[in-house]
Amino acid sequence: LLATAVTAGAQDFPNGKPITIIVPFAAGGPTDKVARDLAEALRKPLGTTIIVDNAAGAGGSIGANKVAKAQPDGYTLLLHHISMATMPTLVRNIPFKVESDFEYLGMINDVPMTVIGKPSIPAGNFKELTAWMQQNKGKINLGNAGIGSASHLCGMLFQHAVGVDMTAVPYKGTGPAMTDLMGGQIDLMCDQTTNTTGAIEAKKVKAYAVTTAHRLTVPALKDLPTLQESGLKGFEVTIWHGLYAPKGTPPAIQKKINEALKVALKDPDFIKREESLGAVVVHDNRVEPAEHKKFVLSEINKWSPLIKAANVYVE
Ligand code: MLT
Repeated sequence: LLATAVTAGAQDFPNGKPITIIVPFAAGGPTDKVARDLAEALRKPLGTTIIVDNAAGAGGSIGANKVAKAQPDGYTLLLHHISMATMPTLVRNIPFKVESDFEYLGMINDVPMTVIGKPSIPAGNFKELTAWMQQNKGKINLGNAGIGSASHLCGMLFQHAVGVDMTAVPYKGTGPAMTDLMGGQIDLMCDQTTNTTGAIEAKKVKAYAVTTAHRLTVPALKDLPTLQESGLKGFEVTIWHGLYAPKGTPPAIQKKINEALKVALKDPDFIKREESLGAVVVHDNRVEPAEHKKFVLSEINKWSPLIKAANVYVE
Protein backbone atom coordinates (compact mmCIF):
# COMPACT_ATOMS: atom_id res chain seq x y z
CA LEU A 1 0.00 0.00 0.00
CA LEU A 2 2.82 2.36 0.96
CA ALA A 3 4.66 1.56 -2.27
CA THR A 4 1.49 2.38 -4.25
CA ALA A 5 1.10 5.68 -2.39
CA VAL A 6 4.74 6.63 -3.12
CA THR A 7 4.36 5.70 -6.80
CA ALA A 8 1.13 7.68 -7.08
CA GLY A 9 2.89 10.64 -5.40
CA ALA A 10 5.67 10.42 -7.95
CA GLN A 11 3.20 10.30 -10.84
CA ASP A 12 1.34 13.40 -9.63
CA PHE A 13 4.47 15.32 -8.66
CA PRO A 14 4.50 18.25 -8.01
CA ASN A 15 0.70 18.27 -7.82
CA GLY A 16 0.45 22.04 -7.28
CA LYS A 17 2.70 21.99 -4.22
CA PRO A 18 5.54 24.55 -4.21
CA ILE A 19 9.11 23.30 -4.57
CA THR A 20 11.85 24.92 -2.49
CA ILE A 21 15.35 25.37 -3.87
CA ILE A 22 17.81 25.88 -1.02
CA VAL A 23 20.67 28.27 -1.85
CA PRO A 24 23.50 27.71 0.65
CA PHE A 25 24.69 31.35 0.46
CA ALA A 26 23.32 34.83 1.14
CA ALA A 27 20.70 36.53 -1.03
CA GLY A 28 21.95 38.86 -3.75
CA GLY A 29 25.11 36.82 -4.45
CA PRO A 30 26.06 34.67 -7.45
CA THR A 31 24.45 31.38 -6.37
CA ASP A 32 21.28 33.22 -5.42
CA LYS A 33 21.19 34.96 -8.82
CA VAL A 34 21.46 31.68 -10.73
CA ALA A 35 18.84 30.05 -8.48
CA ARG A 36 16.32 32.87 -8.90
CA ASP A 37 16.74 32.93 -12.68
CA LEU A 38 16.52 29.13 -12.85
CA ALA A 39 13.43 29.12 -10.58
CA GLU A 40 11.72 31.41 -13.08
CA ALA A 41 12.69 29.13 -15.99
CA LEU A 42 11.62 25.97 -14.10
CA ARG A 43 8.19 27.28 -13.07
CA LYS A 44 6.55 26.51 -16.41
CA PRO A 45 7.94 23.01 -17.11
CA LEU A 46 7.28 21.94 -13.50
CA GLY A 47 3.89 23.65 -13.40
CA THR A 48 4.27 24.97 -9.88
CA THR A 49 5.73 27.75 -7.76
CA ILE A 50 9.45 27.53 -7.02
CA ILE A 51 10.59 29.15 -3.78
CA VAL A 52 14.24 30.13 -3.32
CA ASP A 53 15.31 29.84 0.31
CA ASN A 54 18.73 31.11 1.44
CA ALA A 55 20.24 28.86 4.13
CA ALA A 56 23.62 30.58 4.33
CA GLY A 57 26.65 29.92 6.49
CA ALA A 58 29.77 27.80 6.94
CA GLY A 59 30.87 28.18 3.32
CA GLY A 60 27.71 26.55 1.97
CA SER A 61 27.73 23.48 4.19
CA ILE A 62 24.74 24.51 6.36
CA GLY A 63 22.39 24.67 3.36
CA ALA A 64 23.82 21.52 1.78
CA ASN A 65 23.41 19.65 5.06
CA LYS A 66 19.83 20.87 5.39
CA VAL A 67 19.00 19.31 2.01
CA ALA A 68 20.95 16.11 2.76
CA LYS A 69 18.72 15.63 5.81
CA ALA A 70 15.43 16.83 4.20
CA GLN A 71 12.45 14.65 3.32
CA PRO A 72 13.35 12.92 0.01
CA ASP A 73 10.09 13.85 -1.72
CA GLY A 74 11.27 16.25 -4.45
CA TYR A 75 9.95 19.36 -2.69
CA THR A 76 13.33 20.37 -1.23
CA LEU A 77 16.23 20.73 -3.66
CA LEU A 78 19.76 22.13 -3.43
CA LEU A 79 21.43 24.41 -5.93
CA HIS A 80 25.14 24.26 -5.23
CA HIS A 81 28.46 24.70 -6.98
CA ILE A 82 32.06 23.50 -7.22
CA SER A 83 32.13 23.26 -3.40
CA MET A 84 30.35 19.91 -3.76
CA ALA A 85 33.68 18.68 -5.15
CA THR A 86 36.20 20.87 -3.32
CA MET A 87 34.74 21.14 0.17
CA PRO A 88 35.54 17.54 1.15
CA THR A 89 39.24 18.36 0.62
CA LEU A 90 39.20 22.03 1.67
CA VAL A 91 37.44 21.36 4.96
CA ARG A 92 37.68 18.31 7.19
CA ASN A 93 34.61 16.88 8.89
CA ILE A 94 31.76 18.29 6.83
CA PRO A 95 28.45 16.90 8.15
CA PHE A 96 27.33 15.20 4.91
CA LYS A 97 28.72 12.92 2.23
CA VAL A 98 28.85 14.46 -1.22
CA GLU A 99 28.93 11.08 -2.97
CA SER A 100 26.16 9.29 -1.08
CA ASP A 101 23.79 11.80 0.59
CA PHE A 102 22.37 13.30 -2.62
CA GLU A 103 20.61 12.38 -5.83
CA TYR A 104 22.25 14.25 -8.71
CA LEU A 105 19.63 15.97 -10.87
CA GLY A 106 21.91 17.60 -13.44
CA MET A 107 24.40 20.33 -14.18
CA ILE A 108 23.41 23.94 -14.88
CA ASN A 109 26.36 26.06 -16.04
CA ASP A 110 30.05 26.88 -16.07
CA VAL A 111 31.07 30.19 -14.48
CA PRO A 112 34.38 32.06 -14.77
CA MET A 113 35.80 34.03 -11.85
CA THR A 114 37.51 37.42 -11.65
CA VAL A 115 40.13 38.99 -9.39
CA ILE A 116 38.69 42.29 -8.18
CA GLY A 117 39.73 45.00 -5.74
CA LYS A 118 38.32 47.93 -3.76
CA PRO A 119 38.01 51.18 -5.76
CA SER A 120 40.84 52.95 -3.87
CA ILE A 121 43.59 50.47 -4.83
CA PRO A 122 45.97 52.61 -6.91
CA ALA A 123 46.88 49.69 -9.24
CA GLY A 124 45.35 50.02 -12.70
CA ASN A 125 46.37 46.61 -14.05
CA PHE A 126 47.58 43.20 -12.87
CA LYS A 127 51.28 44.14 -12.99
CA GLU A 128 50.64 47.15 -10.78
CA LEU A 129 48.45 45.02 -8.51
CA THR A 130 51.36 42.60 -8.07
CA ALA A 131 53.62 45.46 -6.96
CA TRP A 132 50.87 46.81 -4.64
CA MET A 133 50.41 43.36 -3.05
CA GLN A 134 54.16 43.10 -2.41
CA GLN A 135 54.23 46.59 -0.88
CA ASN A 136 51.24 45.80 1.33
CA LYS A 137 52.26 42.31 2.51
CA GLY A 138 50.66 41.47 5.85
CA LYS A 139 47.99 44.16 5.50
CA ILE A 140 45.71 42.80 2.76
CA ASN A 141 42.19 41.55 3.53
CA LEU A 142 40.66 39.07 1.13
CA GLY A 143 36.88 38.59 1.24
CA ASN A 144 35.21 35.23 0.72
CA ALA A 145 31.91 33.41 1.20
CA GLY A 146 33.22 31.27 4.06
CA ILE A 147 35.59 28.35 4.38
CA GLY A 148 34.96 25.88 1.58
CA SER A 149 33.23 28.35 -0.76
CA ALA A 150 34.30 29.02 -4.35
CA SER A 151 35.76 32.42 -3.44
CA HIS A 152 37.68 30.74 -0.61
CA LEU A 153 39.11 28.15 -3.02
CA CYS A 154 40.05 30.76 -5.62
CA GLY A 155 41.37 33.25 -3.05
CA MET A 156 43.57 30.64 -1.35
CA LEU A 157 45.00 29.40 -4.65
CA PHE A 158 45.57 33.02 -5.71
CA GLN A 159 47.51 33.86 -2.52
CA HIS A 160 49.58 30.74 -2.98
CA ALA A 161 50.30 31.60 -6.64
CA VAL A 162 51.33 35.21 -5.96
CA GLY A 163 53.22 34.28 -2.78
CA VAL A 164 51.49 36.86 -0.59
CA ASP A 165 49.65 35.81 2.56
CA MET A 166 46.39 37.65 3.08
CA THR A 167 43.84 37.74 5.90
CA ALA A 168 40.67 35.92 4.86
CA VAL A 169 37.46 37.72 5.83
CA PRO A 170 34.51 35.30 5.66
CA TYR A 171 30.95 36.39 4.83
CA LYS A 172 27.73 34.39 4.40
CA GLY A 173 28.09 34.91 0.67
CA THR A 174 29.92 37.14 -1.78
CA GLY A 175 26.79 39.31 -2.14
CA PRO A 176 27.46 40.95 1.25
CA ALA A 177 31.25 40.69 0.68
CA MET A 178 30.82 42.69 -2.54
CA THR A 179 29.08 45.50 -0.62
CA ASP A 180 32.09 45.73 1.70
CA LEU A 181 34.57 45.58 -1.18
CA MET A 182 32.81 48.46 -2.92
CA GLY A 183 32.90 50.35 0.39
CA GLY A 184 36.60 49.64 0.89
CA GLN A 185 36.19 47.60 4.10
CA ILE A 186 38.04 44.72 2.41
CA ASP A 187 40.75 44.90 -0.25
CA LEU A 188 40.47 42.01 -2.70
CA MET A 189 38.23 39.14 -3.74
CA CYS A 190 38.15 36.37 -6.30
CA ASP A 191 34.53 35.92 -7.26
CA GLN A 192 32.21 34.66 -9.96
CA THR A 193 31.40 36.85 -12.96
CA THR A 194 27.70 36.33 -12.17
CA ASN A 195 28.34 38.58 -9.15
CA THR A 196 31.12 40.83 -10.41
CA THR A 197 30.15 41.82 -13.98
CA GLY A 198 27.64 44.50 -12.89
CA ALA A 199 30.00 46.03 -10.33
CA ILE A 200 32.90 46.03 -12.84
CA GLU A 201 30.71 47.64 -15.50
CA ALA A 202 29.53 50.32 -13.06
CA LYS A 203 33.19 50.87 -12.04
CA LYS A 204 32.31 50.23 -8.41
CA VAL A 205 35.29 47.85 -8.08
CA LYS A 206 38.60 47.46 -9.90
CA ALA A 207 39.00 44.35 -12.05
CA TYR A 208 42.40 42.80 -12.73
CA ALA A 209 42.05 39.39 -14.37
CA VAL A 210 39.84 36.45 -15.23
CA THR A 211 40.59 32.97 -13.89
CA THR A 212 39.70 31.10 -17.09
CA ALA A 213 42.18 29.75 -19.66
CA HIS A 214 40.86 32.20 -22.28
CA ARG A 215 39.66 35.78 -22.19
CA LEU A 216 35.90 36.34 -22.03
CA THR A 217 33.65 38.02 -24.59
CA VAL A 218 31.23 39.88 -22.28
CA PRO A 219 31.74 43.62 -23.04
CA ALA A 220 32.56 44.60 -19.42
CA LEU A 221 35.10 41.76 -19.09
CA LYS A 222 36.60 41.37 -22.55
CA ASP A 223 39.70 43.50 -21.88
CA LEU A 224 40.69 41.62 -18.74
CA PRO A 225 43.78 39.40 -19.12
CA THR A 226 43.74 35.81 -17.89
CA LEU A 227 45.80 35.05 -14.79
CA GLN A 228 47.85 32.65 -16.91
CA GLU A 229 48.87 35.35 -19.37
CA SER A 230 49.57 37.59 -16.35
CA GLY A 231 52.28 35.19 -15.26
CA LEU A 232 50.46 32.76 -12.94
CA LYS A 233 51.31 29.63 -14.90
CA GLY A 234 48.60 26.96 -14.86
CA PHE A 235 46.15 29.05 -12.82
CA GLU A 236 42.70 28.12 -14.00
CA VAL A 237 39.49 28.06 -11.97
CA THR A 238 36.09 27.70 -13.60
CA ILE A 239 33.24 26.95 -11.26
CA TRP A 240 29.89 25.34 -12.06
CA HIS A 241 26.45 24.86 -10.59
CA GLY A 242 24.28 21.75 -10.28
CA LEU A 243 20.91 20.73 -8.88
CA TYR A 244 20.60 18.04 -6.17
CA ALA A 245 17.91 16.27 -4.12
CA PRO A 246 18.14 14.30 -0.88
CA LYS A 247 19.21 10.67 -1.28
CA GLY A 248 16.17 8.43 -1.67
CA THR A 249 14.05 10.84 -3.72
CA PRO A 250 11.89 8.54 -5.93
CA PRO A 251 13.45 7.95 -9.39
CA ALA A 252 10.24 9.07 -11.16
CA ILE A 253 10.42 12.44 -9.36
CA GLN A 254 14.13 12.79 -10.13
CA LYS A 255 13.31 12.14 -13.80
CA LYS A 256 10.56 14.78 -13.83
CA ILE A 257 12.86 17.39 -12.31
CA ASN A 258 15.69 16.52 -14.71
CA GLU A 259 13.35 16.79 -17.70
CA ALA A 260 12.13 20.18 -16.45
CA LEU A 261 15.76 21.25 -15.92
CA LYS A 262 16.56 20.38 -19.54
CA VAL A 263 13.65 22.57 -20.69
CA ALA A 264 14.67 25.43 -18.35
CA LEU A 265 18.28 25.35 -19.63
CA LYS A 266 16.96 25.97 -23.16
CA ASP A 267 14.87 28.96 -22.04
CA PRO A 268 16.15 31.90 -24.15
CA ASP A 269 15.68 34.41 -21.31
CA PHE A 270 17.64 32.23 -18.90
CA ILE A 271 20.43 31.70 -21.44
CA LYS A 272 20.60 35.42 -22.27
CA ARG A 273 20.78 36.40 -18.61
CA GLU A 274 23.54 33.88 -17.85
CA GLU A 275 25.57 34.80 -20.92
CA SER A 276 25.36 38.51 -20.13
CA LEU A 277 27.09 37.68 -16.84
CA GLY A 278 29.83 35.54 -18.40
CA ALA A 279 28.33 32.14 -17.52
CA VAL A 280 27.79 29.34 -20.03
CA VAL A 281 24.63 27.23 -19.77
CA VAL A 282 25.32 23.53 -20.31
CA HIS A 283 23.29 21.20 -22.50
CA ASP A 284 22.74 17.63 -23.60
CA ASN A 285 24.93 15.00 -22.00
CA ARG A 286 26.23 17.30 -19.25
CA VAL A 287 22.68 17.74 -17.89
CA GLU A 288 22.25 13.97 -17.49
CA PRO A 289 22.30 13.07 -13.77
CA ALA A 290 24.75 10.16 -14.16
CA GLU A 291 27.06 12.31 -16.27
CA HIS A 292 26.92 15.14 -13.72
CA LYS A 293 27.76 12.77 -10.88
CA LYS A 294 30.67 11.41 -12.90
CA PHE A 295 31.80 15.00 -13.50
CA VAL A 296 31.59 15.91 -9.77
CA LEU A 297 33.64 12.81 -8.89
CA SER A 298 36.20 13.77 -11.54
CA GLU A 299 36.32 17.28 -10.05
CA ILE A 300 37.05 15.77 -6.61
CA ASN A 301 39.95 13.88 -8.17
CA LYS A 302 41.14 16.97 -10.05
CA TRP A 303 41.01 19.44 -7.14
CA SER A 304 42.05 17.26 -4.22
CA PRO A 305 45.76 17.05 -5.18
CA LEU A 306 45.83 20.73 -6.24
CA ILE A 307 44.35 21.84 -2.90
CA LYS A 308 46.75 19.59 -1.01
CA ALA A 309 49.75 20.73 -3.08
CA ALA A 310 48.90 24.37 -2.43
CA ASN A 311 48.47 23.52 1.26
CA VAL A 312 45.27 25.59 1.42
CA TYR A 313 42.98 23.21 3.29
CA VAL A 314 41.59 23.83 6.73
CA GLU A 315 42.30 21.19 9.36
C1 MLT B 1 31.21 31.49 -3.33
O1 MLT B 1 32.23 32.13 -3.20
O2 MLT B 1 31.14 30.29 -3.07
C2 MLT B 1 29.96 32.16 -3.82
O3 MLT B 1 30.25 33.42 -4.26
C3 MLT B 1 28.89 32.05 -2.85
C4 MLT B 1 27.72 32.97 -3.00
O4 MLT B 1 26.78 32.71 -3.75
O5 MLT B 1 27.70 33.98 -2.29
